Amino acid sequence: MGPSRVDFLNEVTAVILDKGFVMVQRNLPAEDLLKQLEKSASGLLANAIGAEPALYWNKDIAASEDHNIFRKDWVCPGLAAEIPKQGDYLTFSIAGEPIFCIRNSSGDIKTYSNVCRHRMMLLLEGTGTVSKVVCPYHAWTYNLNGS
Ligand code: FES
Repeated sequence: MGPSRVDFLNEVTAVILDKGFVMVQRNLPAEDLLKQLEKSASGLLANAIGAEPALYWNKDIAASEDHNIFRKDWVCPGLAAEIPKQGDYLTFSIAGEPIFCIRNSSGDIKTYSNVCRHRMMLLLEGTGTVSKVVCPYHAWTYNLNGS
């Protein structure tokens, strides 16, 4: 039997694991979580406490990070050495948007939205090498320079 989850008054979630172990997490509002983090981060190191686990799974915090960080700043999807040859690509997502990087015929790395212009089908998955990008749905085809 797998873990079961119980919510108490929308403040605490208890996950009952196998063998009777219970893991408890507080469901604080994002605003309170951020106040706690700011207080801990601005205090003395001797008084520092571990980050509230909800900072890592709270949906409002994640949405705020997407909006304020990942949509506005540089993101490192990998190393150029991971796609050394023409047509090598890697895929990733930024704030939920599918993206791919590909080494083109000039040896440059270009980055594109990983959805087809026709009906938004995902173009590439994982990593690999292609001579051109062909949509798996209706076969719209893009060269390595994106046209
Ligand atoms: S969705 Fe890509 S060719 Fe139609």
